[in-house]
Amino acid sequence: AIFADRKNSYSINIDIESELHPLEKQIHAFDGQFWEAGPVVAGEHYTEASDDSVVQQCLAPYDRRIRVGSVIFSTPEMIETALDSAEAFYPQWNDTAVEQRAQCLYNLADLLEKNMPELIALCHHEAGKTIHDCIDEVREAVDFCRYYGQQAIYNQSFSEANVSFDNIIQEVSRQGKGVFVCISPWNFPLAIFLGQISAALVTGNTVIAKPAEQTSIIASRAVILMLEAGFPKEAIHLLLGSGAKIGSLLTSDPRVSGVVFTGSTNTAQVINQQLAKREKLPATFVAETGGQNAMIVDSTALPEQVVRDVIRSAFASAGQRCSALRVLFIQSDIAERVIELIKGAMQELRVGLPYLHSTDVGPVIDKTAKDKLAAHILKMKTEHKLIAQVDLEEVCQHGDFIAPTAIEIAHLGLLTEEQFGPILHIIRYEAADLESVIGQINQSGFGLTMGVHSRNETTYTRIANASRVGNCYINRDQVGAVVGVQPFGGQGLSGTGPKAGGPRYLARFTKQVLSSVVM
Ligand code: SER
Repeated sequence: AIFADRKNSYSINIDIESELHPLEKQIHAFDGQFWEAGPVVAGEHYTEASDDSVVQQCLAPYDRRIRVGSVIFSTPEMIETALDSAEAFYPQWNDTAVEQRAQCLYNLADLLEKNMPELIALCHHEAGKTIHDCIDEVREAVDFCRYYGQQAIYNQSFSEANVSFDNIIQEVSRQGKGVFVCISPWNFPLAIFLGQISAALVTGNTVIAKPAEQTSIIASRAVILMLEAGFPKEAIHLLLGSGAKIGSLLTSDPRVSGVVFTGSTNTAQVINQQLAKREKLPATFVAETGGQNAMIVDSTALPEQVVRDVIRSAFASAGQRCSALRVLFIQSDIAERVIELIKGAMQELRVGLPYLHSTDVGPVIDKTAKDKLAAHILKMKTEHKLIAQVDLEEVCQHGDFIAPTAIEIAHLGLLTEEQFGPILHIIRYEAADLESVIGQINQSGFGLTMGVHSRNETTYTRIANASRVGNCYINRDQVGAVVGVQPFGGQGLSGTGPKAGGPRYLARFTKQVLSSVVM
C-alpha cells in the first residue's frame, strides 16, 4: 500500500502546441544567460576565482562560439574541507529520522519541477540535449528523488528481525555506511547525478559529489537546489574538476566508505584498484559502465517495428546512452528489406540545434568525443560497407556534431571498444547460426542491454535466457529505462549492480545492525 500513491512525474507532450509553447517561452527566458558555477563545500558556493583557481569556460556543444558560463575547479583545501565535514557530520545525519531525510528529497523533487525551464535550458546549452531528452532528464531526476525517498521509508518499516523468542527481542536495522563519493557522467547530468546522490543521502550517508567536468554547471545548480530543499550543508558537498586529479584523491582516501560511479569500464577498473590498495578494508563500490549492446532480429520480426526501434535505440540522444544499440544482427532472409527501411528512416532524421523542436539528433558532448567517433567512422567506411550517413546541415558547422551513420561489418570481433555516439553496426546472420551469435555477444564480456525482435516465442525466450545482460528488451526499443518500472544495470564489464531505480538498490548503501535484547 505504501507504493500506491507514488506516481512518476508528469510528461509534457511537446507535439501538442498548447503544451510546448508555454514551456518554450519559459526556457527562452534563459537565452543568453551566462552561468557562473563553482564547488559547493560546507554550504559555500565558490564562484569567485582566487589566485590558485583553475577556471574553465563552458562553450555550447552545438556552437563553440557561444559561451554558456564559467566553472571554478576545486582546490586541494576544498577537497580536505569536504572530506572532514562529511566525515564529521555522518553520525548526526545517520541518526536523523529516515522520514526527515526522505522529506528533503521530496522537497528537492518539487524544486526540480519548479525550476524545470532553467534546468532544460542548461541541458540544452551545457550538455547539448534535445528538448525531448531535456524533459526526460528532469523527469528522471524527479522520479529518482521520490522513488528512493519512498523506498528508504519502506525499508525502514520492513522488519528484518528474523527470530524473536519469549525473552529475547531481536531487530536488524539498516544504517548508512559513512561518506559516499558519487562520480557521475555528462550524458545524464541531472538524472544520474541526483540518482546516485539521493540514494546515498536518504540511507544515512553523507556525500561528496564529483560530476563530469563537461556538465559542472548543471551539477552546481542542482546542489544549490538541494540546500534549498533542506539538506544540511555538511551532508552534501560538490567538488568540480578533473576526474584523474580529484577522483583519485577521493577514492584513495581512508575517510571514504563507498564509491558510486557511472562512466567508462576503464575508469571503473582504475577506481576498483585504488579502493583495493587502501589500508582500510576496501570500500563499497557500485559501478554502472559501458556496453557493446546488440539487437537480434529474426525473420519473423515485423520490419516496420524493427526500424522504429532501431532508429530510437541507436540514434536518440545522439547515441550517447550506455544502453544504446551498437550492433544490429539481422537474419539474412529479411536483411535487405530491413536495411532499406533503415536507410530511408535515417534520411528523415534531422541533426541540428538541440533547442529546436524539429531536431532529432543534437551534438555530441565535446571535440574529443567528436574526433574519436569521426576516426572510427572513417576507418569503418574505408574498410567496410557504408549503409547510410545522414547529411549535416550548415547549422552544424560550428558545433561538435556527428552524422548518424550505419555500417555493415562481417563480424563482432571487428569492434574492440564501445563507440559512444550515433553509429550503428549491422551484421547479417544465417538462421542456423543463432547460437553462435548469442555466444559472440556474450564473449564480448559486456552485458548491459540486449534487444530482440521476433514473433517466435521460443526464439525470443531462448535469446533472453541465454544472454548475459542486465536488461533484455523484446519487441521494443532498448533505451530509456523508467525509474521504478525497469530497474537498470548490467553485468560483467558493464557494472557491478544493483540496478538503479529498482527495489534492491538502496540496500547496497547501508549496513545492517542486529540488536538482540534479553528481556
Ligand atoms: N538508463 C538509461 C537508459 O535506460 C541509460 O543510461 O537508456
